[in-house]
Amino acid sequence: MIKFKVEDRAGEVQEIEVPGDMGLNLMEVLKASEFPVLGTCGGMALCASCHVSVEEGLDKLDEQRDAELDMLDTLPNALPNSRLACQLPINEKLGGAYVKLQEVME
Ligand code: FES
Repeated sequence: MIKFKVEDRAGEVQEIEVPGDMGLNLMEVLKASEFPVLGTCGGMALCASCHVSVEEGLDKLDEQRDAELDMLDTLPNALPNSRLACQLPINEKLGGAYVKLQEVME
């Protein structure tokens, strides 16, 4: 099982535990856990509705690919530790991470 913490936009923190072998990404798990994440583009790095910041464990994650970097570049509220949750597979690299949902810009 992969465990990590998620802080919602109201500052509430929840520990999430999911199997690491289901081929899911973080956006899908956040949606399934009833966090207010729309995932409008279905995980194509095109909508940024799954924008999170990674407060702990960022260095363990894989580098962003071009599509994610391009999308993050367009966000006025992007942070140095911003990621798109749909581009983060649920695997051991996410274990112990602390992610925070970011505001979605209209
Ligand atoms: S779900 Fe659209 S960018 Fe992640």
